[in-house]
Amino acid sequence: MKPQELKDEVAKRRTFAIISHPDAGKTTITEQLLLYGGVIREAGTVKGRKSGHFAKSDWMAIEKQRGISVTSSVLQFGYQGKQINILDTPGHEDFSEDTYRTLMAVDAAVMVIDSAKGIEAQTKKLFKVVKQRGIPIFTFMNKLDRDGREPLDLIAELEDLLGIEGYAMNWPIGMGKGLVGLYDRVANRIELYRDNEAGDKYLPLNADGELDSSEPLTNESIYRDTLGDIELLNDAGNQYDLKKIMRGEQTPVFFGSALTNFGVQTFLDHFVNMAPEPGPHRLLDGTELSPTAPDFSGFVFKIQANMNPSHRDRIAFVRIGAGEFERGMDVTLTRTDKKLRLNNSTEFMADSREQVQTAVAGDIVGLYDTGNFQIGDTIYAGKTPVEYEKLPQFTPELFMRVTPKNVMKQKSFHKGMQQLVQEGAVQLYRTYTTNDYILGAVGQLQFEVFKFRMQNEYNSEVVMSPIGSRVARWIDPDQLDEKMSSTRNLLVKDMQGQPLFLFENQYAERWFADKYPDVKLTAKL
Ligand code: G4P
Repeated sequence: MKPQELKDEVAKRRTFAIISHPDAGKTTITEQLLLYGGVIREAGTVKGRKSGHFAKSDWMAIEKQRGISVTSSVLQFGYQGKQINILDTPGHEDFSEDTYRTLMAVDAAVMVIDSAKGIEAQTKKLFKVVKQRGIPIFTFMNKLDRDGREPLDLIAELEDLLGIEGYAMNWPIGMGKGLVGLYDRVANRIELYRDNEAGDKYLPLNADGELDSSEPLTNESIYRDTLGDIELLNDAGNQYDLKKIMRGEQTPVFFGSALTNFGVQTFLDHFVNMAPEPGPHRLLDGTELSPTAPDFSGFVFKIQANMNPSHRDRIAFVRIGAGEFERGMDVTLTRTDKKLRLNNSTEFMADSREQVQTAVAGDIVGLYDTGNFQIGDTIYAGKTPVEYEKLPQFTPELFMRVTPKNVMKQKSFHKGMQQLVQEGAVQLYRTYTTNDYILGAVGQLQFEVFKFRMQNEYNSEVVMSPIGSRVARWIDPDQLDEKMSSTRNLLVKDMQGQPLFLFENQYAERWFADKYPDVKLTAKL
């Protein structure tokens, strides 16, 4: 690809994640977006728990059983000349670690909020991560077809609970059964919830931002209430500031109803214009790499085994940070300096008919992996080594001792343990002297998924005995004396062989610190 061509292709990419609290409507809005992308033909094909179909993004059996999305997936489609990549993120809080890493691979985030509930716990957590990244955050206040909270309250809550300014791009005229439409401050028109008698969907506003007085709607009190709100927003609300939006300090707010497909296209149209194209990525050495740098490079932000249950595949998800990806290309894995030929790749899209021919910076490719990759790995194609900055690690808080139920099946047990652990959703530790397997995770559900997958994918039934919630603290090996270990601070080693204590609680940690004042303990390595 010529430099200008690469530049043009990269400029088309819009790569983002949708974050929300479970049930706010993320799946429903994703589905509507896919409809606009022409990827699916009718609503209900992505997810219809009632019809027994599941999201294309819901791959694994456990997701079907529990009706939740366990792992992130990637959907890709074209819209208005742009190439959209949506990285799905599980809403369940136990999967936040996976979600956090996914947020490292996107250039923008869309926050879906249930307008009846406002900002909920999981949204708040995910927001924090996005905020740290300093990427733009777009807000969709969903479920306007139901009676919800006062729109002004919802905007105020963004500021009060999340510390981000909200700028209303449009404003509801009524809600629930009384929903009339949206007052569009940007396009200077009213978008009707139901077409009026003439079949119009949009009514133009004059230079004062009002309807022509002949419009019947002007006689409705709800319309005048809206004008009052708009006046208030214009006079006392936040000023639209694109620079702040790009830094994630202000969020453009859109109202709508994903279920009735109202306001979604308006949102999408603005989003594709406003959301940034892929920007430079920070490297480990502190420099930045431009996405249009000629040589391909990317980083693995997620590894998933057996997306297709009939194959024993592992897929490493790579965010392309720079250049162009080509099938069969030779790359170097920075961590091991090993040369690899990438002839088994897959790109992610919701429908194979829509296959794109090239993948460039901003896109996500999935590489079939035979055990080469770890989360956080960089691969690069040029002569100069590249290493992307480290992905954040989250210290596990829950721990389980794991043993195979059938001691005769040690082989499949060890294989499953090694492979699933490498995906990074759970951490593996071994007890210092007896080498027992200890798993650590951020949430309980991760253990359940682990157990389920060991049984289903590796035919290995495991016994898990909880050792409960623990505080993990690493110790300098030079300072370690095995006698320091007790039941209240279990001594284990991590996958890299580094020793750490799993303290029963903070008191145990404090007691330890008092007893060994010279020993330095660290939360993360
Ligand atoms: P999630 O992915 O964020 O967890 O939410 P999801 O889209 O699954 O939506 C959760 C529930 O909210 C679903 O109903 C969905 O139909 C409903 N919903 C989504 N958007 C809207 C909206 O704009 N208005 C209204 N009224 N409801 C909306 P469910 O009954 O729990 O699931 P299902 O059986 O319909 O799949």
